[in-house]
Amino acid sequence: MEDKLYEGKSKIICSGPNDNSFIIRYKDTATAFNGEKKAVLSGKGKLNAAISNLIYAYLDEHGIRTHLLRVLDETSVLVRKAEIVMVEVIIRNAAAGSFSKKYGVAEGTALKNATIEFSLKSDELGDPMINESQITALGLATPEELSEMKQQAFRINELMCALFAKADIKLIDFKLEFGRCGGKIILCDEISPDSCRLWDTGTDKKLDKDRFRRDLGNVLDSYRDVLGRLENVCKI
Ligand code: TMP
Repeated sequence: MEDKLYEGKSKIICSGPNDNSFIIRYKDTATAFNGEKKAVLSGKGKLNAAISNLIYAYLDEHGIRTHLLRVLDETSVLVRKAEIVMVEVIIRNAAAGSFSKKYGVAEGTALKNATIEFSLKSDELGDPMINESQITALGLATPEELSEMKQQAFRINELMCALFAKADIKLIDFKLEFGRCGGKIILCDEISPDSCRLWDTGTDKKLDKDRFRRDLGNVLDSYRDVLGRLENVCKI
């Protein structure tokens, strides 16, 4: 049995079969507001793993370098060992969440261009926003790494917008994490309804973790809906 190296809010990282890999296990826990709100949603791990694996396969087919090596089972993946860049990258196509609150813009308002913003990955500090000069000043990433992360994030946005559009879903915003591996920046962590805002194109129904954050109910039904739609479009 592999060793547990780290237990996060929604995933467990374990040692892999060799020095170049980790095993990630998805948990059924949901948290919001930096862990203040917590619940066990039985089956969430499986759904997020399946959704993330589909998106990762699609991104890989379109030339994005990622940590994913192999799907092991319904809740576990084998990934390349990467050194995580301690910065979260957030892309927005429409206003929602903290952006709407901060700038007084109604949720759902389309943005004239996609925006990018960064937060320091620190539960202790509540993931504060950080700008590019601060990231390089603190040595969190080099200017070259930052430029690569930005370029990849915008490309991933284009690819994901196209994928979700086929599934009749609007990609409102999402969060990405990157890591260093073999001198390159690669995409790490999950991409799922926990880390994206996904709205039904026709009705603007929320199909993501805002259902949990805001007590809208039917959290896992919505995640299942997202998975079903992605499976349909990925089959074609
Ligand atoms: P925000 O509007 O709360 O800043 O969230 C922007 C996007 O980032 C949204 O799709 C949810 C995602 N996100 C995470 O994945 N993890 C987090 O801890 C937070 C706060 C947001």
